[in-house]
Amino acid sequence: MAIEKKPVKIVETVLRDAHQSLMATRMTTEQMLPIVEKMDDIGYYAVECWGGATFDASLRFLKEDPWERLRKLKAAFKKTKLQMLFRGQNILGYNHYADDVVEYFVQKSVANGIDIIRIFDCLNDLRNLQTSVRAANKEQAHVQIALSYTLGDAYTLEYWTDIAKRIEEMGADSICIKDMAGLLTPYTAQELVGALKECTKLPINIHTHYTSGVASMTYLKSVESGADIIDTAMSPLALGTSQPATEVMVETFRGTPYDTGLDQTKLAEIADYFAPIREDAIKSGLLNTKVLGVNIKTLQYQVPGGMLSNLVSQLKEAGQEDKYREVLEEIPRVRKDFGEPPLVTPSSQIVGTQSVLNVISGERYKMVPKESKKIMLGEFGQTVKPFNPEVQKKIIGDEKPITCRPADLIPPQLPQFEKECAQWKQQDEDVLSYALFPKVAEEFFKYREAQQTKVDSTVADTASKAYPV
Ligand code: CO
Repeated sequence: MAIEKKPVKIVETVLRDAHQSLMATRMTTEQMLPIVEKMDDIGYYAVECWGGATFDASLRFLKEDPWERLRKLKAAFKKTKLQMLFRGQNILGYNHYADDVVEYFVQKSVANGIDIIRIFDCLNDLRNLQTSVRAANKEQAHVQIALSYTLGDAYTLEYWTDIAKRIEEMGADSICIKDMAGLLTPYTAQELVGALKECTKLPINIHTHYTSGVASMTYLKSVESGADIIDTAMSPLALGTSQPATEVMVETFRGTPYDTGLDQTKLAEIADYFAPIREDAIKSGLLNTKVLGVNIKTLQYQVPGGMLSNLVSQLKEAGQEDKYREVLEEIPRVRKDFGEPPLVTPSSQIVGTQSVLNVISGERYKMVPKESKKIMLGEFGQTVKPFNPEVQKKIIGDEKPITCRPADLIPPQLPQFEKECAQWKQQDEDVLSYALFPKVAEEFFKYREAQQTKVDSTVADTASKAYPV
């Protein structure tokens, strides 16, 4: 009897998560474009290439217009779907935005080339996904809702299956288990995927990181249990804090009912292209080889890779690098005080920074950044577990926390942003760059104008030389 074929679908992350995880999101559009035609020929289910930290990093560090990058990628990828990562009501920033900004951002993302939008909330508060999911449905994008995976008393199989059912009702086209810290172990994945398969008809995408060393095995067990899609990165930018290698997963499933059908020779050409980019990044220090090994401690501290490197730099700035271990031990305690949220942007930064401050100031919650206060005021949404009441009292005093969907209290913001950035505006999308990162965008707009003036005067120069009057 023939076994039913069920090829596993591959999402290639080399243009987004892989370089975000390994080389501080510094891959430029120029580095991407020469290989895109070959990537388009592979037969990936999708290429993740936008969103997450790429937007901020393009504007801030690379002085590139992220929208321009998206349009160039769209023009070059003729067959393959483009995917982005979207932080629900936080869009690609670190705070909640009004619904009009969220809707407009979704609309422009699709208009500029995005086919699949993966939407998540750092607290798994589904109310924070409503607006973006509705907007993405309206734009007829494929809407994937991602659950931020984490461990803790509250995160039982019932929790995951219950939330998966609600996601299906919300209008998602697929579900992703987003395991940003590499906490999902192979046999837990088997259980989890099995349970999800029973409660929802939606395709299941597993996204994990290699950080703790178990990721390839987690994919194997997930696929055997019915997962439909896995996220992988081309080998030069795979492993460590990035994803399992594309070529390895393709080979693993060859000749089985899950055979991806992807051509290893063609994949090798793409790997050859990225290999020198990896080497250069190692030489320049952009890719710290420390993140390439296996770090089983992530299972103990449950901290995503990006967060660890942030902690190190915060401690360095404070001249207290020797407190690293203390901070690692403080993180689970702060997380508990804060209602045990998953640790992913922006909750990872908030819990991380608070832990650093608790340790270096010598007294817990003596120094409290405004984001910690916002969490305790309910302004990021609802956590799975209640806050520690004593800590909450210490942080917010007599202020009254909110219990509604946080964005219900934010009036429309677009008109004001339009006004503020009018003098720099060259395209509709500029207001969105400005809305998310006002200072960074303004600097970018100034840089862009300066570049254009330079080009204009060169053209004028050449012209005047060619046609003397
Ligand atoms: Co990731």
